Amino acid sequence: MPTQAEPLMAFRATVPMSAARAQQIAEDFDLRALPPDFYANPYPVYQALREREPVRQMPDGSYFLTRYTDVVAVYRDAQTFSSDKKIEFGAKYGHDAPLFEHHTTSLVFNDPPLHSRVRKLIIGALTRRAIDGMEPGLAKLVDSLLDDIHAKGGGDLIEDFASAIPVEVIGNLLGVPPADRGPLRAWSLAILGALEPKLTVEQERLGNQAVADFTAYLKGLVAQRRKQPGDPQHDVLTRLIQGESLAGSTTPAVEPLSESELLQNCIFILNAGHETTTNLIGNALVALQEWPEEKSSLLLKLEQANKHPQGFEACLTLAVDEFLRFEPSNQLSNRRAVKACRVAGVDLPEGALLTLCIGAANRDPAQFEYPDVLDLTRGDERAGAPPNRHLAFGFGIHQCAGLSLARLEGRIAIGRFLQRFPDYQLSASPVRGGRARFRGFLSAPFAAS
Ligand code: HEM
Repeated sequence: MPTQAEPLMAFRATVPMSAARAQQIAEDFDLRALPPDFYANPYPVYQALREREPVRQMPDGSYFLTRYTDVVAVYRDAQTFSSDKKIEFGAKYGHDAPLFEHHTTSLVFNDPPLHSRVRKLIIGALTRRAIDGMEPGLAKLVDSLLDDIHAKGGGDLIEDFASAIPVEVIGNLLGVPPADRGPLRAWSLAILGALEPKLTVEQERLGNQAVADFTAYLKGLVAQRRKQPGDPQHDVLTRLIQGESLAGSTTPAVEPLSESELLQNCIFILNAGHETTTNLIGNALVALQEWPEEKSSLLLKLEQANKHPQGFEACLTLAVDEFLRFEPSNQLSNRRAVKACRVAGVDLPEGALLTLCIGAANRDPAQFEYPDVLDLTRGDERAGAPPNRHLAFGFGIHQCAGLSLARLEGRIAIGRFLQRFPDYQLSASPVRGGRARFRGFLSAPFAAS
């Protein structure tokens, strides 16, 4: 079993928490009033909840689920547990707010039939072939970022590396011209920031402004693409615009999207693949500093596997999934019970709101052996290990539509970074984003030797 070695304490990212403190936070657990030490390390609190109150009712009456089997059961039953959030977002943002229109029109916060229509169009563009075709461009992009870092002798893992990758990938996917990509990251952060359970007036204002600016920009892009359609086999925006069966394709006809459905789902795709993938790469490269034995053994394997490209990919595939299990970049999903039901022996009324905690389910010892250990060979079925069925991409009808793309980005970014800078070291303490839903770092300065 891998062990967590003593890193340089000054630069430690994970702050230990005593069982007594975890228990105290769990007893008062309220997503809207979390103390700073929770954000630094939520996993001991999740453990306390899982053991003592796996279906925890919070002060606002909603329920917080922490056990793997319960989270999967809710994801699986989309008839009972709706993703439609018009009621909650109406109360949170007001019905006229741009944030309300955006979130309530996105596929992830809808049930069939809107959900199925949009999903079919997106999935049709993210085929294995289309994703494999992105690999050479992605490798080139990553190498150019690594060249810049090399020239500076280091930089910031987030600013100079992790956050620079997804914006280009999703920009390419939707055919956003490179010169227009500057504001995408800030828009995305502002819109997703407004999903936090507790919202400041400023966060809400920034979120609404970002939806308005983003929508205005996309209107122009869509008008252009209507005049000059792209290749619908690869261009997601053209597929979403056409919304119909494509010549020679086996995809069944799909009713075209309305203008608002089109614009808001484009924004959603740009956002969905952005911060999540940045955090996958950033969390992984920081975690390797805290688990130096795992880093050394991964480097050794990569060196050996280098001679066999398939072996190289296999090592990284396992590693990426373990990074996602260990520190999932999206920690929470939400559902609403459309009828009275029972979860883990607890009776829930019709209309009950549920938060499914991916971060807690991914550390459930009933599903994962040594769940608090980062084991980059976890899930190696060739070695007889059970599959790593983590929930970082959710599960069921809403399971992440971009998971293959995210895995590809993770493999290329983490693999090439490690090959280029095997001895990288954090040069200051990494700064966490301080959010419950999206877990990642704002900055992580490092020296590249
Ligand atoms: C490490 C990166 C990523 C993580 C951790 C992640 C996580 C998730 C999760 C947990 C969900 C399900 C939400 C729910 O059911 O409540 C989801 C949905 C989704 N994700 Fe991702 N995602 C990632 C990257 C991406 C990328 C790169 C794309 C785009 C190309 C993408 C597009 C989507 C879409 C379209 C949905 C909605 C699916 C639906 O409602 O049917 N994601 N993602």
